[in-house]
Amino acid sequence: MKIRSIQGRRIWDSRGRPTVEVEVVNDDGTLGLGIAPAGASMGTREAVELRDGGAAFGGRDVQSALRGIEREIAPALIGRDVTDQAGIDAALIALDGTPTKARLGGNALIATSLAVLHAAAAQARVPLWQYLAQARPVKLPLPQIQIFGGGAHAGRRVDVQDFMVIATGATSFSHALEMTAEVYRAAGGIMAARGTLAGVADEGGWWPSFSRNEEALDTLVEAIEKAGYVPGAQVAIALDIASSEFGRGGRYKLALEGQELDSDALCGMLVRWVEKYPIVSIEDPLAEDDEQGLVAFTQAVGHRVQVVGDDYLVTDAGRVRNAAALGACNCALIKPNQAGTVTETRAALDAAQAAGYATIVSARSGETEDVAIVHLATGWNAGQLKVGSFARSERMAKWNEAVRIESRAGAPAGFWGAAALARRSKA
Ligand code: PGA
Ligand code: ZN
Repeated sequence: MKIRSIQGRRIWDSRGRPTVEVEVVNDDGTLGLGIAPAGASMGTREAVELRDGGAAFGGRDVQSALRGIEREIAPALIGRDVTDQAGIDAALIALDGTPTKARLGGNALIATSLAVLHAAAAQARVPLWQYLAQARPVKLPLPQIQIFGGGAHAGRRVDVQDFMVIATGATSFSHALEMTAEVYRAAGGIMAARGTLAGVADEGGWWPSFSRNEEALDTLVEAIEKAGYVPGAQVAIALDIASSEFGRGGRYKLALEGQELDSDALCGMLVRWVEKYPIVSIEDPLAEDDEQGLVAFTQAVGHRVQVVGDDYLVTDAGRVRNAAALGACNCALIKPNQAGTVTETRAALDAAQAAGYATIVSARSGETEDVAIVHLATGWNAGQLKVGSFARSERMAKWNEAVRIESRAGAPAGFWGAAALARRSKA
């Protein structure tokens, strides 16, 4: 099936900022929409977003990215076979011509690449997850869901970015959502009773009105218990430290507690947290430039918790292979717009799985109603999915899409559950 037309347009993300949407129409009139999400705590090696600068919308307008789609990308792709994702992505990379996708923009490229993928599934008249899975049996992913949102998503009110839960005792995706809904509600209730309820952060998690980072962990355990679950056995904790946001050159500034730690001290603090709290997953425990620290942390706790690389791995197959050779991390966060095309995203996921890493397909803090990542996580059988919290419709649209996928006739073969979590060896 050939591509008949490609149109880019500016739409608006969950922070009210401009973003790129691309519409690909096939010769038979079926179509696909792809939307670029946007990060706030970004890795320095991510595909570069093309933003206009200047006064409008804080410099975040995307007119230059749209011009590239109209003048270069559309003419290059019209008439091509929409099912040739690898060929189209290679053409996009060649057309851009930079190692960072800075010329046409990673935002223009990922929106186009995802639109092509959606259009290919549409002309095949199957849901996207099924188009990706083909005949292979796949399972619905285990969700990690934010309860408190901190770091760059909450004016740096606390240093740690995501305080999340994983419903390790859930037997289906829908069951995991039910359990999380109760924990989210309990956490809000605790904050209200303390007089510290202050709305929500960028991804819908409760605003973190805490005086220490550990107070958030204590409150999370309390919320799990208040919701009627056993911490650890039924509902466990996952953290995204996002430490590249407050650490560089092996020095980490914890603003909330007024401390400056070196790599060993931060590592030691996180190891203590793992010993004290029912934590099963920690993302970006050390900064993207602290490879030695990441290796040391993985050696210390990688046999019992999932150590997730986000800013450090930036959804790049080569970086994943390098990390695996060094023994840094045991799980890769997979964000399509970090890579810039669907094919490169898939390559990073394949590299991670080949290395024995667990994988988590992830949204960004700037999102839309787009639900593509739910289909990627399911169709690619990634095992885990990270979308943000249990509030606000750019997040709920994704959780709800997973409920639909799980409940429809011809649903995936089951639910990954806690088996999706990386554990290198049984301690
Ligand atoms: P971002 O953060 O989308 O704001 O970059 C998400 C994450 O760090 O996982
Ligand atoms: Zn992260």
